Amino acid sequence: MGGTPLSGEVTVRGAKNLVPKAMVAALLGSTPSTLRNVPDVVDVDIVSGLLKLHGVTVERTDGKLVMDPGAVDHAEPTAINVHAGSSRIPILMCGPLIHRLGSAFIPDLGGCKIGDRPIDFHLDALRQMGAKVRKETDGLYIDAPGGLRGTKIELSFPSVGATEQVLMSAVLAEGTTELRNAAVEPEIIDLICILQKMGAQITVHSNRVVRIEGVDSLTGFDHRALTDRLEAASWACAALATKGDITVIGAEQEPMMTFLNTYRKVGGRFDVNDGGDGSAKSIRFWHPGGPLNAIAIETDVAPGFQTDWQQPMVVALTQAEGLSIVHETVYENRLGFTEALNQMGARIQVYRECLGGSTCRFGQRNFQHSAVISGPAHLRGAELVIPDLRGGFSYLIAALAAEGESTLHGLELIYRGYENFLDKLTALNAKYDEL
Ligand code: UD1
Repeated sequence: MGGTPLSGEVTVRGAKNLVPKAMVAALLGSTPSTLRNVPDVVDVDIVSGLLKLHGVTVERTDGKLVMDPGAVDHAEPTAINVHAGSSRIPILMCGPLIHRLGSAFIPDLGGCKIGDRPIDFHLDALRQMGAKVRKETDGLYIDAPGGLRGTKIELSFPSVGATEQVLMSAVLAEGTTELRNAAVEPEIIDLICILQKMGAQITVHSNRVVRIEGVDSLTGFDHRALTDRLEAASWACAALATKGDITVIGAEQEPMMTFLNTYRKVGGRFDVNDGGDGSAKSIRFWHPGGPLNAIAIETDVAPGFQTDWQQPMVVALTQAEGLSIVHETVYENRLGFTEALNQMGARIQVYRECLGGSTCRFGQRNFQHSAVISGPAHLRGAELVIPDLRGGFSYLIAALAAEGESTLHGLELIYRGYENFLDKLTALNAKYDEL
């Protein structure tokens, strides 16, 4: 049931876009690794399952994972097949598995259905490092008869996953790898910190250049995952869309700087507590009353406005006065969720053209990747089927902002990246029934 401002406190733990990768990094170590601040999300269950199939012992207590890869060398590489389909993380296991076992099998990949989500950058990079890739109907068989070797690689787009692929393949490769046009998302920098703790030699230069000097062996790590800035922003947008007031415990200013600038431009207010007084770090986000401002947003790789911030922000922008413009430049197909918002009374038109400041690689290619949002719109309850993780959370926010009752189907997709979100909603005084 919508129409009630969400207010109160929620705690956000480790980043969903780091934790599974950190778990894969544990495969590279010769000794056990400990990861802290681990959220209880489905992606962690999936990767735990994959690691166990490879012989890693995974012990999980609240918020903490201890992973011992001692027995990996005896594991059966094709066992990964059992978990095919539900996660894209297996592709990142290539490097670690090749280093450990000499080969890797990667089943057909699942994950959110956003565009085609290709893996060509991953495979090109692996091939350049000496891997041989064989495509079969059930997945990819990859090995490296002469071992993985350092080389110069340039990505045509600063892909997060491909950057992680190169990092985790190059740390134990022979020689030095130079990666150009690398992604430098805070989660990647945190992964580099983990690899450094393990003994890796990685230098992040300016202009998206990363140099990795291969070493002979790595140990385990003990690391506290950085907070999920994408989830934190989702709650911030929920506060704005429902005229509420939410304090996100765990949220940190620096990785959210770009988001905070946008939040302020829209008319949202925030107050950063950097923990200087000994309390937990947090950011309070609230709607100050009065109209919100229409703005233009262009999504981008870090340090730009992240594509995962886009969908929840669009819901808030349905309440802004005037015409807002969103240009999605990271995914070709991340505006489909606006149809459901229109069913609820929003006025959003999507366009194939690049609207906003610059042209992107999706212009002239028939992808509806720009949106004009006309507000403020009176949102009404509707029956909705959740399409993907961020789109799903945005439907949830829209339903909570709307007048009347909404029914949402497919909530399990939201659990992939949002820990205990129904309990958090209860803590924020949301009114809902779980059927
Ligand atoms: C990660 C995040 C996701 C986020 C995205 C961009 C995880 C688990 N997911 O996804 O939440 O939205 O970064 O910040 O961390 N591409 C190719 N070929 C490839 C790889 C990517 O063309 O081989 C394209 C994609 O289709 C997309 C763009 O590059 O258009 C960005 O993808 P990428 O940065 O790799 O995203 P993910 O790592 O999958």
